[in-house]
Amino acid sequence: MYICICNAIREKDLRRAAWELSGDAEALYARLGFAPQCRQCLEDAEQIVAEARSCVPA
Ligand code: FES
Repeated sequence: MYICICNAIREKDLRRAAWELSGDAEALYARLGFAPQCRQCLEDAEQIVAEARSCVPA
């Protein structure tokens, strides 16, 4: 499932980035080589980042 339609960022890729990298969703987008465009995804993206970091895989 895509979390960011503008940049075609998949939820699983954002979760992986949240585990491996620091920063908020916008910072993670930048680390993945993207920049927010319409910004409508950022609130949901922040929730996914927080959720991912609260449940880091072993
Ligand atoms: S859906 Fe993510 S910037 Fe538009």
